[in-house]
Amino acid sequence: MISDAKVHPIYGPNKLKLGIFSQNCSHGCAITTADGVMEVTWDKNVSLAQAADDAGFELLVPVGRWSGFGGVTNFSSASFETYTWAAGIGQATREIGVMTTSHVPVIHPLMAAKQATTIDHITGGRFGLNIVCGWSAPEMEMFGATMLEHDARYEYAAEWVTILKMLWTRDEPFDYEGNFLKVTKAVSLPKPLRKPHPPLMNAGGSPAGRLFCAQHCDVAFILLDPDNLEGTKARIDAYRDFAKAEFGRDLKIWAYGYVVHGDTQKEAEDYLHYYAVEKGDDVAVQNLCHQLGVDKVITDPAAYDRFKFHFKAGYGGYPLVGTPEYIVDTLQSLSNAGLDGLALCWVDYHAGLARWNREVMPLLRQTDMRLGD
Ligand SMILES: Cc1cc2nc3c(=O)[nH]c(=O)nc-3n(C[C@H](O)[C@H](O)[C@H](O)COP(=O)(O)O)c2cc1C
Repeated sequence: MISDAKVHPIYGPNKLKLGIFSQNCSHGCAITTADGVMEVTWDKNVSLAQAADDAGFELLVPVGRWSGFGGVTNFSSASFETYTWAAGIGQATREIGVMTTSHVPVIHPLMAAKQATTIDHITGGRFGLNIVCGWSAPEMEMFGATMLEHDARYEYAAEWVTILKMLWTRDEPFDYEGNFLKVTKAVSLPKPLRKPHPPLMNAGGSPAGRLFCAQHCDVAFILLDPDNLEGTKARIDAYRDFAKAEFGRDLKIWAYGYVVHGDTQKEAEDYLHYYAVEKGDDVAVQNLCHQLGVDKVITDPAAYDRFKFHFKAGYGGYPLVGTPEYIVDTLQSLSNAGLDGLALCWVDYHAGLARWNREVMPLLRQTDMRLGD
């Protein structure tokens, strides 16, 4: 049983929390044919999670994915389902927070509430839920599920999360009827260990997505603009202020970044060019961007190429490319901009994390970002 004093890792003492992103999917975050990419084996998932736990990382965030994106890599075609993944990883770790990423259109909130509670108990209160609405039509079609119009997806998610929270907090059976979901005499016992409930995360980027996250969630998982570090603080402040002003809620802001270490800046940049440009899977990234609808939004060819480059390099995450000192300077800038946490990915997660722990962590501990380690 968790004591009152035992806070969830995302509320722990370190100013800049660290996580790992998308270790449950084939190729992780790198859309490349380069050697060393993540393979979906249980041993590799457990050993990575344990290494992150031992190093004091705060969070593991899986990606909810049901099919791949074609190309020579068929990027993300293999993935561990995220509730069962979190249950197993939770049992194999001690301190680190473990998320599930749940597609609301295909998981009933009653099922979600119970599965999440079970994982919360397995982990002693280290569980968290990342809510996604589903943007990939082929994936939703696999379930025979209807892909709602964009903003309606968030209205659906609002009903879903309302039922979820009621199930987590109400002892008596209740009825709920919305426009999309109806439950009758619904109840879920036991309750999660984490009170009032496990932390909720959402990565919506649109106005409807931000409204949903600010109103219902605890953590906003945002996509940083790799070419606009200067604008990051204003964006983070605006998001946090909006949640506070509209709903009186304190949002934590997380993002994700791809790491390419080098002994020199040039070595890191050369390797990035090698795996993302020379070995990048242009067909898979094109398919992914097309499904996301990016090709309709970014009409300037150079800007679109840049977008695809960051997606091949690390799923569009923020670039941490260079020497350990440069990486720590970049993290300091992000932390100064108000970022609470950064989930990391590498081409080779195991080698990358080991090098991070050897070369970056000691430098980070000399800053105000990781005084709690
Ligand atoms: C950091 C991050 C993680 C995400 N993880 C997933 C995921 O695991 N599965 C998924 O289907 N979509 C995922 N998404 C997509 C979002 O749920 C959302 O659809 C996307 O950010 C677009 O937001 P919008 O619908 O508000 O425009 C993720 C997005 C971001 C930025």
